[in-house]
Amino acid sequence: MKKLTLLFLLSISLYSCKDKEEDSPSPDSVCNTSNVTYSNTVKSIISNNCIVCHGGAPMNLGDIATLQGVANSGLLYKVITHAEGVPAMPKGKAKLSDCDIAKIKAWIDAGAQNN
Ligand code: HEC
Repeated sequence: MKKLTLLFLLSISLYSCKDKEEDSPSPDSVCNTSNVTYSNTVKSIISNNCIVCHGGAPMNLGDIATLQGVANSGLLYKVITHAEGVPAMPKGKAKLSDCDIAKIKAWIDAGAQNN
């Protein structure tokens, strides 16, 4: 009988452990900024949010050299974080998600490479 009670308690504690794990955010909902590259991450964020207006002259952000230029001057990060003194981008639309901003920042901080 004692053994059974012990087993019962053990299963309850194991079960509550499992519950806690399910409460914590799943890996999918955590913003992952490791392994951010231009081709696998930044390019699609820019395509989805900026190219509609910046797909050609005067500023084609689909062109990597142009994008690197605004990234390295600090302007890219300023416009997407709606910093003072620069036009907020994407113009007239909602700010990018915190995760997209964090990914672009990670790419800039790593040298805005064409990778
Ligand atoms: C709806 C059109 C539109 C969208 C979408 C848009 N922009 Fe712009 N962007 C503009 C216009 C127009 C300007 C010129 C400045 C102004 O009129 O505010 C501009 C200017 C800029 C500038 C130059 C700012 C300066 O001070 O010279 C940067 C950098 C920029 N946009 C980046 C972006 C990025 C990055 C995105 C996507 C996250 C984006 N834009 C999305 C219309 C847009």
